[in-house]
Amino acid sequence: MLVALLPGDGIGPEVIVEAVRVLDALEIDGLLFEEAPVGGAAYKQSGHPLPEATLDLAKRADAILFGAVGDPACDALERHLRPEQAILGLRKELGLFANLRPASLFPELADASALRPEIARDIDVMIVRELTGDVYFGEKGMRTTEEGLREGYDIMAYDEAEIARIARSGFETARARRGKLCSVDKANVLETSQLWRDVVVEISADYPDVDLSHLYVDNAAMQLVRDPGQFDTIVTGNLFGDILSDLASMCAGSIGMLPSASLDKDGKGLYEPIHGSAPDIAGRGKANPLATILSAAMMLRYSLDLVEPADRIEQAVGKALADGLRTADLGGDASTEEAANAVIAML
Ligand code: NAD
Ligand code: IPM
Ligand code: MN
Repeated sequence: MLVALLPGDGIGPEVIVEAVRVLDALEIDGLLFEEAPVGGAAYKQSGHPLPEATLDLAKRADAILFGAVGDPACDALERHLRPEQAILGLRKELGLFANLRPASLFPELADASALRPEIARDIDVMIVRELTGDVYFGEKGMRTTEEGLREGYDIMAYDEAEIARIARSGFETARARRGKLCSVDKANVLETSQLWRDVVVEISADYPDVDLSHLYVDNAAMQLVRDPGQFDTIVTGNLFGDILSDLASMCAGSIGMLPSASLDKDGKGLYEPIHGSAPDIAGRGKANPLATILSAAMMLRYSLDLVEPADRIEQAVGKALADGLRTADLGGDASTEEAANAVIAML
């Protein structure tokens, strides 16, 4: 089993190193790693954020463990050369349309949530985010209006096949959980969202056992903070899912805690924390590696069929937190390396 390691930029390499140490500690037979540069790091080496060789490794591998990309020094580059294009390119090239972002609270972290403990306690939501369409991948550009004003534009569009595919992922996910699916859109304003809602309702005929509801995205954001416990599974588009998952992460303690799986139609996946390269803390040993360690657990579970070691990682993270492990984002002073050590000690 070949795992592609794509550490990337900023805290990406810092958290990937620790996730690999946790995987190594499990001594899984036949698990091989191969690393390649991606993002700003790749641009600096070879002039492109997603070099051919990196994409080739990602295609060859059985699963991909990804850190983060993004480097302020690259923000003025032409868009196609910016680090973020690497992760967008991987998602598109590999057909990773279904992004699962689970937000649940380790009970020990109730005091770390931005919400009052009695509200935070109940959060256990799976956000199913569409990942290869929407305003992210529509036509975009800069032009000049008739009045001579600069105008930026990004076309938001979904076709019905793209919506049906992710809707099915949402229904299947809900069915395997508590049977409740909330579809989030902005159908009161956007045509894209009206089609989204219509198609989700059509697909729901195949899932009579799943309890379907709909919310507008503004209300969904408010409800996630007011009463996160009301949600089981959320299915939503690329942009709304991006925003709602960062929001949900703070309900669950910290953005440094949330893992994700990005899956193709056959279950091949890229696994990454939902956070970015955190340039503000990079290089200081302060990053919380748990989101990446939990992403490695998702990788074992979803792509490599190694359920028992995945359980072991998740349980070890819980035990380490119960034992008092807190990185800075959780109000403590454990370093990135110490956090991983604490998990390894509990394996
Ligand atoms: P970010 O997620 O990198 O950081 C937001 C805040 O959360 C920062 O204060 C950061 O210090 C903190 N944070 C993030 N991860 C943390 C962790 N593991 N432990 C402790 N604190 C953590 O978002 P941003 O600052 O908006 O973006 C920085 C760069 O990352 C940008 O270039 C952006 O495009 C990129 N980005 C990449 C990805 C990705 O690779 N998938 C995701 C999000 C953002
Ligand atoms: C994420 C990130 C990416 C996104 C960026 C870096 C392209 O924010 O994975 O959540 O918007 O999808
Ligand atoms: Mn994001």
